[in-house]
Amino acid sequence: MDAGCLIKEARKAQENSYSPYSGFKVGAALLSKSGLIYTGTNIENSSYGLSVCAERTALFNAVNNGETNFSAIAISSSGPDYVYPCGACLQVLAEFASDLQVIVSNEQDEFKKYLLSDLLPQAFKLSIQEG
Ligand code: THU
Repeated sequence: MDAGCLIKEARKAQENSYSPYSGFKVGAALLSKSGLIYTGTNIENSSYGLSVCAERTALFNAVNNGETNFSAIAISSSGPDYVYPCGACLQVLAEFASDLQVIVSNEQDEFKKYLLSDLLPQAFKLSIQEG
């Protein structure tokens, strides 16, 4: 799966953005290790703090479909510049994949690639006791 394909899927998801308050549309496409793509867009609310970013929508969509292993996420937006996942989304993504490739794109579909662990080197983790 190349970055261009994943960005195209993020752009498609962006069309469904519900963002009447900011007017800023974001799309995300998350590639699972099984090869499937789960997309999401930002969903705003009149109680602003309840709005959800595109990245978390994509992740929740994937987990809701039984996926917990991921290799890459691409992000697109209606703005001219590269959009990076916010801190909250980085933390939520890190729950599942610290080695995730994060692909940010701009208006011209140019992109840059990062590792999630470089964008959030010290994610909060709780060790879970088995049994
Ligand atoms: N937003 C995202 O969906 N992802 C990001 O990475 C940054 C911000 C959304 C949240 C809100 O709906 C709008 O962009 C403006 O902040």
